[in-house]
Amino acid sequence: MKTLTDLDLTDSRVLVRVDFNVPQNDDGKVLDDTRIRAALPTLRHLLDKNAACVLMSHLGRPKGEPVAHLSLAPVAEKLAELLPDNRIRHCEEVVGARAEEMARSLSGGEILLLENLRFHPGEKSNDDGFARDLAELGDIYVNDAFAACHRKHASVHAITKHFPAEKRAAGQLVEREIEALDKVVANPQQPLLAVFGGAKVPDKLEAIEALIDQAGQILIGGAMAYTFLRAQGVSTGASKVEEDRLDAAREILGKAGDKLLLPTDHVMSMEDEVRTGEEITGDWMGMDIGPDTADRYSEAIRKAATVVWNGPMGKIEEERFFSGTRQIAEAMAESSGVTVVGGGETGQAVHKIGVEDKLTHLSTGGGAFLDYLAHGSLPALDALKED
Ligand code: ADP
Ligand code: 3PG
Ligand code: MG
Repeated sequence: MKTLTDLDLTDSRVLVRVDFNVPQNDDGKVLDDTRIRAALPTLRHLLDKNAACVLMSHLGRPKGEPVAHLSLAPVAEKLAELLPDNRIRHCEEVVGARAEEMARSLSGGEILLLENLRFHPGEKSNDDGFARDLAELGDIYVNDAFAACHRKHASVHAITKHFPAEKRAAGQLVEREIEALDKVVANPQQPLLAVFGGAKVPDKLEAIEALIDQAGQILIGGAMAYTFLRAQGVSTGASKVEEDRLDAAREILGKAGDKLLLPTDHVMSMEDEVRTGEEITGDWMGMDIGPDTADRYSEAIRKAATVVWNGPMGKIEEERFFSGTRQIAEAMAESSGVTVVGGGETGQAVHKIGVEDKLTHLSTGGGAFLDYLAHGSLPALDALKED
């Protein structure tokens, strides 16, 4: 795979795909800037060479049309705080006459951040015309959006064909991620323990299934747990369950057998009430793994030689449902084994707890992180490498 040092950047306008899909509050305020800071080494490298940078990213999951609270404008402001010496502009268009004009008028050392790629239907459908319009905005293409590389979307996939091989490369974040994850993929120290949680269940089941053989034990928490519990016929009350993934969950349960552990107690809520218990009935919703489960999981983590973890154990946006995730993160921090953790919200939790320096690697990728561990490759990186 070509990297930044393989590029001739003289007088160039570089189109950089980043993943600025950051956690935000309801007013659009950026709650965790990890993914923005993770792109800075690449941006600094390009800006130091006096390149002009046109940045593109997705944010959230708008369905091919503009959604006001998913604009990248607050992200552009955050980026401006992190790069105070460079002029940073935000374009309210993804592609079109205004985007072209702003990209063309950019000088060396300046940055333009385009509007949310997913405001355009062509992004998700990997549309070649949309990819060509994006490609018009730069002479060189750099993919530094590790967390989006599991997607076959226009800005990471179809776009590569619009640049000759010598004018496209991976950025430094992608390089660092691959280097760190390859150590786990190639030859993980056994026993390998995998911890999965979070909410993007449909996206992640396939990778979990692919990791069953490698893992000695699999611990499930977060909203994901309720799909598995329901698949076993256990009562889950009003918890978040992916009804159309119950068969897939059953298949994983069958294949993993007693390797796979599920929570046996829960922190649950109903309206303003919160309680801890083993059974979730009626209108109660499971919001976090319970204290006994957290102890059991922590104990297993301490015994493992390698631990991989993606997805919070509970609804971490609320302090009262944060304990399970905190305890898991602390057990990882105390582990003497290899600890590899990934995910947008998982990373946010790790930073809040302050244990990022005690982990072997904290990946910016969630689904991408899992898919890379499961398959050792990602569709967007394969496209980038093609001659
Ligand atoms: P990551 O970004 O780390 O890859 P996901 O995007 O899959 O993880 O999921 C993170 C989200 O999962 C968080 O916003 C969190 O609130 C949510 N979540 C976890 N457990 C629960 C639960 N029990 N009920 C509702 N939401 C949950
Ligand atoms: C992520 O948060 O894992 C990446 O930004 C990808 O987002 P997506 O799951 O909406 O494609
Ligand atoms: Mg997420």
